Amino acid sequence: MKILITSALPYINGIKHLGNLVGSILPADVYARFNRQRGNEVLFICATDEHGTPAELAAQEQNMPVAAYCDRMHKVQADIYAQFDISFDEFGRSSHPDNHALTKHFSKKLEEHGLIEERSIRQLYSVDDKRYLPDRYVQGTCPHCGYERARGDQCESCTRVLDPTDLVNPRSAISGSTNLEIRETKHLFLKQSAMVEPLEKWIDSHTDWPDVVIGIAKKWLKEGLEDRCITRDLSWGVSVDRPGFEGKVYYVWFDAPIAYIATTKTWSDKAPNERNWRDWWCEGHDVRYYQFMAKDNVPFHTISFPATLIGSGENWKKVDQLKGLNWLTYYGGKFSTSQKRGIFTDAALEEFPSDYWRYWLMANIPESGDSSFSFEKFGEQVNKDLNGVLGNFVNRITKFCVANFGAHIPEGGSFGPHEEELVADLEALIKEYTDNLTVPEYRKAMASLRAIWVKGNNYLAAAAPWTSIKTDKDAAAVATRVALNLCRLFAVLSAPIIPATAAKILKAFGEETAVPSWPTSVRVALDALKPKTPFEPIPVLFERIPPERIEALTEKYGGGESGPVA
Ligand code: MF3
Ligand code: ZN
Repeated sequence: MKILITSALPYINGIKHLGNLVGSILPADVYARFNRQRGNEVLFICATDEHGTPAELAAQEQNMPVAAYCDRMHKVQADIYAQFDISFDEFGRSSHPDNHALTKHFSKKLEEHGLIEERSIRQLYSVDDKRYLPDRYVQGTCPHCGYERARGDQCESCTRVLDPTDLVNPRSAISGSTNLEIRETKHLFLKQSAMVEPLEKWIDSHTDWPDVVIGIAKKWLKEGLEDRCITRDLSWGVSVDRPGFEGKVYYVWFDAPIAYIATTKTWSDKAPNERNWRDWWCEGHDVRYYQFMAKDNVPFHTISFPATLIGSGENWKKVDQLKGLNWLTYYGGKFSTSQKRGIFTDAALEEFPSDYWRYWLMANIPESGDSSFSFEKFGEQVNKDLNGVLGNFVNRITKFCVANFGAHIPEGGSFGPHEEELVADLEALIKEYTDNLTVPEYRKAMASLRAIWVKGNNYLAAAAPWTSIKTDKDAAAVATRVALNLCRLFAVLSAPIIPATAAKILKAFGEETAVPSWPTSVRVALDALKPKTPFEPIPVLFERIPPERIEALTEKYGGGESGPVA
């Protein structure tokens, strides 16, 4: 099966925090890795979202030309995701010429179908800054929920999409000036109001989307779809080639999702003989398309982007499963990029290797509701699951084997009742794990994975080769052989979540190249490493995190007390 996976494109402005990572890129990567192991043909696409006011404002703050700023930050972000072992097939840029061309193509098609209209609208103009103030260039109070730091494009607090002129007490985000005027200027509108019916029909055909996603999409439809202004008074972005539109570009939310497609083209152009981006993006090719994003992105992926695709009148592939996620909080409050509150991806990697984070974040992914990060909870779970259960198992049995049989898989003996019970139990647990990953339902999947590890530990405790070694060497040999095969099986099953650790284990058993395929039979999997196969010592997989370290981290990054609570 062909599986297309996209993660919401991270804004170029600055380094993302752990909440951003678990809100889209990490679960998308787990899905990509899992499906590759299952033998599906996977394409995992992401890019930096480089246009619009976030990029311009951040570049200004750094005193850099915006293009140079984006070049630099793209590299910084790409490097961090590589360190988190994110397995993008392509990590592109929305500023790429492919995306400029495709954005203009969509605009042209929409216009041909009568879905684009020129209108004169009233825009906020800052007299002191001598410029229009689109989107995030304005801050003020949200008219819906009263949040005082709402941005002109969207209220972070209630997720409603806003127009800058909606804000109560607006002020310039550049200078803070409140000396604002309203001036008339021409813009392009996408007539979403004309697309309510096809959109509603399409949304209604997806009863298997998570509740949070259907809820948001329906709310938007119910509130009535307004025609959407898709241009802005900015210089950085995809230019609007049209008389009277000098100095205007397409709105970042118009061109960004198009970059999913454009980045696929960039990928395909690197090996044009083997790859064809149209095989992934044109209807009629057997592709299942999964999108991953946080809930504030859902309106754009259930309404705006589909409106672009449907409105073009062309045969574009639309999302099949839309995985919308809730928020990860920091000690119950907001992670905040602007207030530097929480732990950011670069800092996280300086404290612990990637797998510690990947595991904790996936085990606590804000799937059915928000979830909260704290160093205390992080330390507790790393110690219990990774150090205590998985790490300890691998360590204990490899050491035991070396001491009693040598550094190779022992031979002799055959399956008894302990082994038969293990096979039956694992068969059921692995099916559950696989099904949960397929949906995906990650909280349940992680519980299944833990249960699999625990089952291995229980087996070893019951089979107790350290006892039988004294009386029945064959029985000890079977138990040791099975447990070493369990190490390998754990590595195979854990690889989507903790790929670096899985690779370490597999390397010790001489499997250094591709990640082994997903097991289809436990009996076969427990016989993968044949007697006499040599193995190398496996280093300690996960360090125990002592309480002093947790205390130090809380101090360093600010725990519960710091910053406002959401
Ligand atoms: N940059 C946006 C955010 O971080 C997400 C863009 S997703 C895309 O919220 F589809 F529009 F690209
Ligand atoms: Zn609000």
